[in-house]
Amino acid sequence: TYESLLAKNKKYLWNPFTQMKEYLKEDPIIIERGQGVKLIDVNGREYYDGNASVWLNPHGHNHPYLNQAIEIQLQKIAHSTLLGMSNVPAILLAEKLVQLSPKNLQKVFFSDSGAEAVEIALKMAYLYWRHRNRPEKNTFISMKNAYHGDTVGAVSVGGMDLFHASFERMLFKSEKVPYPYPYRFAGTAEACKQESIQALEEKLKSSADQIAGLIVEPMVQGAGGMIMMPPGYLTEVARLCRQYEVLLIVDEVATGFGRTGKMFACEHENIQPDLLTVGKKLTGGYLPVAATITTDEIYEAFYGDFAEVKTFFHGHSYTGNQLGCAVALANFELYEQEDLISKVQERSLQLADLLMPFQELSHVGEVRQLGLMVGIELVKDKQTKATYAYEEAIGATVCKRARELGLFTRPLDHVITFMPPLVVTQTELHDMTTILYQAIVDVTE
Ligand code: LLP
Repeated sequence: TYESLLAKNKKYLWNPFTQMKEYLKEDPIIIERGQGVKLIDVNGREYYDGNASVWLNPHGHNHPYLNQAIEIQLQKIAHSTLLGMSNVPAILLAEKLVQLSPKNLQKVFFSDSGAEAVEIALKMAYLYWRHRNRPEKNTFISMKNAYHGDTVGAVSVGGMDLFHASFERMLFKSEKVPYPYPYRFAGTAEACKQESIQALEEKLKSSADQIAGLIVEPMVQGAGGMIMMPPGYLTEVARLCRQYEVLLIVDEVATGFGRTGKMFACEHENIQPDLLTVGKKLTGGYLPVAATITTDEIYEAFYGDFAEVKTFFHGHSYTGNQLGCAVALANFELYEQEDLISKVQERSLQLADLLMPFQELSHVGEVRQLGLMVGIELVKDKQTKATYAYEEAIGATVCKRARELGLFTRPLDHVITFMPPLVVTQTELHDMTTILYQAIVDVTE
């Protein structure tokens, strides 16, 4: 029963990104099943999955085709190592990922989470310059307010003070540059973009000799508050990286596989990164598989005789897991069969209409959307753009109200996120946004 599970949750389980003292007071949801875009708890209550289970579910829950892919693979083998040998679904998935990603990217390195995919990209970039006899290129540029995961390397290139500041002494040093945030810039979006580009160029001018790579969340800074880049910014970043011989790492863990209306967010500006990280939707939201995708040039830098000691000494026990790779292959078959990316584009337009009325609310500062990736920034005062104090927990309160009304999502401080599964129908979108609207009105008006 719910009560006994809750007691065991309290006794044994420490939930991630969760203040346990608050959580246990608030009758937490304990999920038992999922169906389509809904989650169903042990009491039989249904909730719309308004953040696609932390941004990873494209086709809905309990999908027969994905279930079947796992069952079929399970009859053969669940897991064998990819260290020094190979397996069928991992090879086929690597091929698929190369076909899907920007055309300069040719090699796939698997891992188990987005944070690991980022760690791997950083280590590859660092070692690339060592193997090229330029070991002094050993630091990274990252964006202020960035989020690349919670492991120590990923936190080192992160920039969200709330999550990251307290770890400062554990982290390696990296150079931070401003990320353009037009809503909070005194001036036009174009001027905001120019200022950020200028700061980046100055940094590169003074220190490109020491920089191995630059890492960025393409088009949208996700956990930092769903902040969309002004058009042209990413193109400029890519151009400067090229000009100053700095490897460009794009972290598509959140944006990849159709979330923003393109297969990869990079495609909005047709840029060609040197390293690209993916995770989350890769397995249709089923199993933890992530990947770092890179160029032949980087791969070649590690390619040599045993005695040269250029082996990439990195790998996790479950890397290339067959069940995960098999369901990932089935996931991409569904993308093709259902022409999912076109559907997302159509649905995004409908969502834009549904979000219009939100702008009129007296505590909605800005509604930001790219594809099916949405952030609604709440402000205490619309004129001055003054934010609510952290202690007011405005985002958490709105999400709590949404939950009572039948939709689950999470706040990023005072920004409400909305990231439905990509297969969401127009009717479901309508229902979900109605709940969100009501929750914001109930809490802030
Ligand atoms: N990179 C990006 C751009 C991400 O958005 C994420 C996770 C990662 C890497 C790490 O992937 P992972 O290791 O989790 O597979 N903490 C927030 C939400 C974080 C969003 C997840 N993004 C929250 O409290 O809701």
